[in-house]
Amino acid sequence: MFELKDLHIRLTSACNMSCPHCYAADWFKDHTQLTFDEVQNVVLQAKKLGCKKVTLTGGEPLVSLYICDSIKFCLFHKLKVSLETNGVLVGKLIPTLSTSDIKNVNFTVSYDGEIMRDSKFSFKVKENIEKLVNLGCSVKIQTTITRLNINELDIILSFSKNLGIPNRVFLSHSPNGNAKDLKLLDVEDWLKTIKYIKSNYDHAIVELPDVFSGKASRKCGWGVHRCEIMSNGDITSCGPIAFNKRGFVAGNIKDNSLGKIWNSEHFSYIHNLKQNDFKGLCAKCMFWKDCLGACRSVSYANGDNLLDPHPFCNLVYNAVKNSELDDSELFDAQRTHEWIRQIDSLNFVPESELYSSIVKEQHSV
Ligand SMILES: C[S@@+](CC[C@H](N)C(=O)[O-])C[C@H]1O[C@@H](n2cnc3c(N)ncnc32)[C@H](O)[C@@H]1O
Ligand code: SF4
Ligand code: SF4
Repeated sequence: MFELKDLHIRLTSACNMSCPHCYAADWFKDHTQLTFDEVQNVVLQAKKLGCKKVTLTGGEPLVSLYICDSIKFCLFHKLKVSLETNGVLVGKLIPTLSTSDIKNVNFTVSYDGEIMRDSKFSFKVKENIEKLVNLGCSVKIQTTITRLNINELDIILSFSKNLGIPNRVFLSHSPNGNAKDLKLLDVEDWLKTIKYIKSNYDHAIVELPDVFSGKASRKCGWGVHRCEIMSNGDITSCGPIAFNKRGFVAGNIKDNSLGKIWNSEHFSYIHNLKQNDFKGLCAKCMFWKDCLGACRSVSYANGDNLLDPHPFCNLVYNAVKNSELDDSELFDAQRTHEWIRQIDSLNFVPESELYSSIVKEQHSV
């Protein structure tokens, strides 16, 4: 049995924004919210299963009635607490939580520039990020780059750089919810952007499949050490997938114990996966052991299958094979050509270790 180290709780389906890239938007009208009793119950059950860290998210967690109580409860039970927020309502925490409680929360605040989200809020978001940094809190900015804000890269990254805080950047999105018709970046722009960020902003953490990142980074632990509670009580290995494939759930906290659901088929299927089970390029990728197929929600939303490769791996592979990209455009030409050579080779031997054993190893350090 695997320890459930990392619990994500989507406190509410509601939000005070409606961002044009938001994959969660189809749930806004559901108005589902976990009660404080449900939060306490599920956190205590998760603790018994090994939980060390709780991430409170949504929708927008700061519109939940129970955000402050949930933070206090998790801290009281000696759990690490992260809050993933759009940053507008951070002020709500200040009169209710003690300064030491606020300083014990790890903040991930989304900032996508001045225009992609509702621009009337961006001043407030930046002001709140600065307030948190000045209070001495741990703050990370999270940015999703799409066609709508690609021209604001410098605005976004110089803001976080000047504050001396990390900025996690996603260069591909899931075309779901409000983003159903939002096309991915063109492959040339995507490659140019990777190079630009890597050579100008060393504080940025760019989320890429490993063939492009050039170094292995710890993956999210999808389904092995981590699970998510949706705002209606559904339990899933991946919330961003469940927002759009409502059947992608293992059970509901109102019907069964977390322990029983954590040991169900939904999770054991993931535990037993091997490279061979992955689809297309992933099944023959020499970087699979480091990459593990990159982000499942982006790959699944852009493809047909849960185990599809990252969409940009397909785009780069096809563009190189069709001579549409020359070496100067590739992020690491030598690495990319070796990757393609292995994929095309008849002698490629896939990794035999289980996905879950590799995740366990990655998460033990
Ligand atoms: C769904 S939001 C929930 C927390 C909070 N409301 C916020 O905006 O930070 C979590 C993160 O998902 C990102 N996100 C939303 N839609 C996305 C999409 N279609 N693809 C990739 N990331 C997305 C948001 O930008 C945000 O950083
Ligand atoms: S990305 Fe966050 S803030 Fe924007 S609409 Fe979605 S849940 Fe709300
Ligand atoms: S082909 Fe799959 S395993 Fe390889 S880098 Fe791309 S997403 Fe990762």
